[in-house]
Parts: sequence; structure tokens; C-alpha cells
Amino acid sequence: MLRQLSLEVLVGPAERRRALRRDIERGLSAPSKHIPPVWFYDEAGSLLFEEITRLPEYYPTRAERAILDRHAFEVVEAAAADTLVEIGSGTSEKTRLLLDAMATAGSLERIVLFDISRDVLLPAAEELGRTYGVDVHAIVGDFWHDLGAIPPQGRQLWAFLGGTIGNLRPQERRRLLERFRQQMGGAGHLLLGTDLVKESRRLLAAYDDSAGVTAAFNRNVLNVVNRELGGGFEPESFDHRAVWDPRQSWIEMRLRARKAQQVAIEEMALVVELAEGEEILTEISAKFTPDSVREELQGAGFSPAALWRDDAGDFQLTLASVPT
Ligand code: SAH
Ligand code: TRP
Repeated sequence: MLRQLSLEVLVGPAERRRALRRDIERGLSAPSKHIPPVWFYDEAGSLLFEEITRLPEYYPTRAERAILDRHAFEVVEAAAADTLVEIGSGTSEKTRLLLDAMATAGSLERIVLFDISRDVLLPAAEELGRTYGVDVHAIVGDFWHDLGAIPPQGRQLWAFLGGTIGNLRPQERRRLLERFRQQMGGAGHLLLGTDLVKESRRLLAAYDDSAGVTAAFNRNVLNVVNRELGGGFEPESFDHRAVWDPRQSWIEMRLRARKAQQVAIEEMALVVELAEGEEILTEISAKFTPDSVREELQGAGFSPAALWRDDAGDFQLTLASVPT
């Protein structure tokens, strides 16, 4: 049988713009301003994120890769899957280690990639199709609305890597994990990547690197608003700030106005007023402990089955199953 690459687009340009407009309306007219993180990943943003993953200060990607380097076979054996489903897949670079293990075990039958950013998803899907010679189904969708598009085929291993779960608040994490569980069905497994709590100095450096790549990534969200909604933001009149909140156990990424300003957003007939020093919250990145990961998975109805950490104990992969 010929292998196929199929592309399904659930979030096209029109939906994207509608959702962005709604988020900006809500987030920038609130008393404490915020922009949801999904808007970071346009083409430029996705490239900047790739650059972040190679920064000396940004340890999570390397730590997660080291875990997969060493333990992918165990993961694959425990999950006994023939279908790899990756959510928020990005470039799917680390995922290859799982796919290699499945291919070597002779169990790999199909790959499903799900991401909101078409620009990274499509090349990754083509590349994986070429390398592994199996069907690849690429879904451009929002994991809050479109998980139902994932075909209920095969024994599924869902991968949610990169610590992306930490970019959600506790209630959202629970809601999303519950949706994963409902969608993946009885025999499914989830492999969840979580960054762990550590010295605040290292956490802060990972989100405020000396080369300024994270700062550029953070400011890029203003370019997205400018381009897509006719916004008048001057990215250079905002400072990038990363703050560790030990009580919430998360890093906050903010953009701080260097001066008082009024920013018109043409397509929305909205004028955003910012005082000098006022901050827009653009992202949280929660850090976990082995206990908090277990509790959150159980709280969402999963049974944690195995876990792996890198030698330094910086990052954790947890494999969880759906109790039958
Ligand atoms: N898994 C990769 C990429 C992590 S970056 C890694 O480990 O390196 C987070 C990814 O999630 C981005 O590719 C982004 O486009 C995607 N993403 C963010 N919010 C999303 C949403 N609401 N729905 C679908 N994908 C989303
Ligand atoms: N999931 C990544 C993380 O929390 C995303 C990320 C890395 C990020 N660096 C960032 C998001 C800087 C916003 C700004 O580590």
C-alpha cells in the first residue's frame, strides 16, 4: 500500500484572525493585560522558538532529548502502540527518537501530528513521512477545539512534549488532560514532558537568555498583532521580563512598556492605553515536582505507569495510561 500524507486544516486564516481578535479584545482591555501564548507561533515565532531550544541557557530541550535518547525503547515497549500522536508537535525533532524505537520494534504504522502552526507542521510531516515510510496525518488545529479530528485508529501513544503543558494554568491543564484521556480511548498512553522546579537562577536564565532570543520571541507577539489586526505596537518600546513566582511555581513572561503610550489596533477600533512600566503578561511556564505531575495526571483520570528523568533531574517524562 502506498503511504499517504494527509493534511487537515481546522484553523485557517479566517478562524485564526477571529480568535486572535477575541483574545486581544479580552486580554488588552482587562485591568491586568495579557495575551495568550498560542499567538507566539507564527512563522517568525516558530523559528525563534527553535533558536531558543539551542541556547546554552535553555536546558529543557536538551534534557528531554537526553531522556528520550536513553529511554525511548522503554517508553515504546510500555506503551505497546502502533500509532504515534503528537500534540503541539512543532518540528517533531525529539519525537524521532520515539519513532526510531517504534520502527525498530516493527510496530510503527502511522503518525498523527497536531499543531496550530501550519508553517512548522507541514515540513515536519513531510519529513517524517519520507523517513519512516508510514501514513502521516497532519492536523492544523487548536487543541482546545479540534482534538476530535484525531482519528481513533490503532493503539495510540500520545506525546505532549517540550513542557507545553506548563504554559497552561492548573485548571486548564486539568481540562486539557481530561480531553486527551477522553479522546485517546481505553488502550491509549500519554507521554507527558514536564520541566521540574530548580534553582531560580537557572530558571530565570532559561527565560531571559544573554543573546536576547527569548526577548525577541516575546516581543514577536506584538508583530503578530500588528500584522494580523493592524496594530501599532512598537516592539522596541517594550522590555522583556521573566519573573519566577515560587508560590505558583511558574515563570511569568511579561512585556513592560518603557514609556506611557497609546496603541491603536485598527481592525478592532481599539486603542490600548499603557502607563509607563505597565506590563502585559504573555506567558507562564509552570515547573513541577514528581509529586505534582503524578497528582495532576491522576486528577485528570490517568494512571501514571512509569517516569524517567535526566541525570541532573532537570526534566521529567511521565508515561500514563487510561484505566479501563
Ligand atoms: N513539541 C515541540 C514544540 C513545543 S513549542 C518541542 O517540544 O520542542 C509549543 C508548540 O505547541 C508550538 O509548536 C505551538 O504552535 C503549539 N501550540 C501552542 N498552542 C497550541 C494550541 N492551542 N493548539 C495546538 N497547538 C498549539
Ligand atoms: N514550552 C516552552 C517553555 O515553557 C515555551 C517557551 C520557551 C517559551 N521559552 C519561551 C514561551 C519564552 C514564551 C517565551 O519552556
